[in-house]
Amino acid sequence: MKKIEQFNKRRDRKAEHINFYMESEHENNALFEDIYLEHNALPELNFDEINTKSTFLDKDVDFPIMINAITGGTDFSWEINRQLSHIALEFNIPIAVGSQTIALYNKESRESYEVVREIVKEGIVIANLSSMATIEEVKIAIDMLEADAIQLHLNVAQELIMTEGDRNFKGVLNNIEYIIKNVDIPVIVKEVGFGISKDVAKRLYDIGVSYIDISGTGGTNFIEIEGRRRKDRDFTDLYSWGIPTALSLIQCVNLNKNLNIIASGGIKNSQDIVKSLCIGAHIVGISGEILRKLLDGGYDLAYKYVEELTYKLKILMLLLGKKNIEDLKTTRYKIIGELKELV
Ligand code: FNR
Repeated sequence: MKKIEQFNKRRDRKAEHINFYMESEHENNALFEDIYLEHNALPELNFDEINTKSTFLDKDVDFPIMINAITGGTDFSWEINRQLSHIALEFNIPIAVGSQTIALYNKESRESYEVVREIVKEGIVIANLSSMATIEEVKIAIDMLEADAIQLHLNVAQELIMTEGDRNFKGVLNNIEYIIKNVDIPVIVKEVGFGISKDVAKRLYDIGVSYIDISGTGGTNFIEIEGRRRKDRDFTDLYSWGIPTALSLIQCVNLNKNLNIIASGGIKNSQDIVKSLCIGAHIVGISGEILRKLLDGGYDLAYKYVEELTYKLKILMLLLGKKNIEDLKTTRYKIIGELKELV
């Protein structure tokens, strides 16, 4: 296929992902309601002293929350990335761009990614490519953003549902290992909504991965999104596939203290964030829910959504008797219900 045709197809696919995400109806359960946290009626703390600051990728962040990979490559993506970048700047939280493949060979589409660094300035910006990308591609993607880290996504389920998707997934682990050895910023290996098992996390850790974004089920469902793009087959019976975010998180957090786990997949409210941190997540990523707020109610609604998350994070910290994020991570929790059976 000619390069220009490939570019047009990729650009159309990006737009369709957003449309079909907004239309998607089937959500699996991230199982955060099966994490029980005990209320502390005697916290002996002052709300004004609750400190939500944290560090990520050697920079300070005001909240352990990040805007996770969504988009780039089209005019519409430029606008989405511009608005999300202002939110990242306002709250001093990290932001990851969507896959930069489209921008590797089409310089015009780079603006929709570069706008993120322009707005966020010294803040944390994370690049994004497929885990099958070449080292040359990885270096272009990093330079484009002066990125603080690069996410390499594992999206096997998504590719298999796409007519035009990859079918050969051999050599991915070796490729990731090669990239880690040849770039000088951290590499985050991430799923896109189907979860990382303990076994996969261990195999990644063993080749030198020190950041894993588990991105489990409970939110954006790429089997449904890609399934809706296809007219020749019905994939509804596969919509429930994947590892719930809470389960994936529990499985991966205690593997090694040098392994940083990012919780994402179905994170919607402040309880999901607090529970993720109590389980042991380093930081918590949100994609679908913030995109939905932005498209439903513009910048103001997306801003209000994040503002409420941060405010309620402080409320919940006080209700647990925890004055800072390090303390919060020592909270004991109980696993109940379906999650208990799966752990
Ligand atoms: C995504 N996601 C994603 N991830 C990635 O690594 N590269 C990408 O290009 C994209 N593109 C993308 C587009 C849209 C419209 C959505 C909603 C999501 C996946 C995302 O980063 C995350 O892993 C999953 O969406 C699960 O988190 P949420 O959406 O449930 O918070």
